[in-house]
Amino acid sequence: MSPSGPTSLASLDGAITPAAEASIPATDAGLLRGDGVFEVIRVYDGQPFALESHLRRLRTSAENLRLALDLEAVRAEIFRLLAQAGPGSDHEMVRVVVTRGGRRLLLTEALPEAPERVRLASITYSPTRILDGIKSLSYAANMLASRIARERGYDEAILVTPHGRVLEAPTSSVFWVQDGKPFTPPLQDHILASITRALVIDVSDVRERPCTLEDLAGADEAFLASTTREVHPVAAVDDSEFNGIGPVTARTAAAVADRIRSELGGG
Ligand SMILES: Cc1ncc(COP(=O)(O)O)c(C=O)c1O
Repeated sequence: MSPSGPTSLASLDGAITPAAEASIPATDAGLLRGDGVFEVIRVYDGQPFALESHLRRLRTSAENLRLALDLEAVRAEIFRLLAQAGPGSDHEMVRVVVTRGGRRLLLTEALPEAPERVRLASITYSPTRILDGIKSLSYAANMLASRIARERGYDEAILVTPHGRVLEAPTSSVFWVQDGKPFTPPLQDHILASITRALVIDVSDVRERPCTLEDLAGADEAFLASTTREVHPVAAVDDSEFNGIGPVTARTAAAVADRIRSELGGG
């Protein structure tokens, strides 16, 4: 199932078409080998949020992957695409993909549907060290982890190393709350430098600390954070259930929403 709605638009090397009509050659190594980089940027009423942070991370990803990137072309194409798309539920995010074949593909997409609180299944996962600092197109392992979690009746995976370190979810960062204090695993655990994670740390008093499954499952509260989820309360980790939405989660969600509103000029 594609997250793109019927009016989602694409910009391929600057040419704008309906997303369903955009195509890249089958020989592009972005497709054949997942050799490329990407970003997902949230769009609120036609305005991209944290655009410069996403462009900076895209540049870092491309440099680390030794991939040619025309960052100014990407920036200009994002604004052209959003101007053409206008507001609307099919255009609440922009996905930017840069391939080894040298293509810049931008897509507007609808937000994925999500329950109010998310149930997590722990899935064993080892980060690919060589891809640290690269938001690469090689995401099959992350997608598989989510699929296995759903097969088990959960909404999403929580990735745990074979040595028992809780890392992150396949497309979001994780936080847990103990005695009223929020914690999150450190970037040194080979997790993505999530832009929303940085935002949460900025608006609340978060400490970085390695996390075990026992820490997470035994916490008072837990939540995920990402560009598309913002702050998303956790309802369960495996068979440990959390009671409703905790006060630290609610406060953090409100602080993140306020920051987003104020950065977009809404007060
Ligand atoms: C592995 C992983 N962790 C965390 C995140 C959240 O990052 P951000 O807040 O920049 O969306 C993502 C986003 O796709 C991700 O893929």
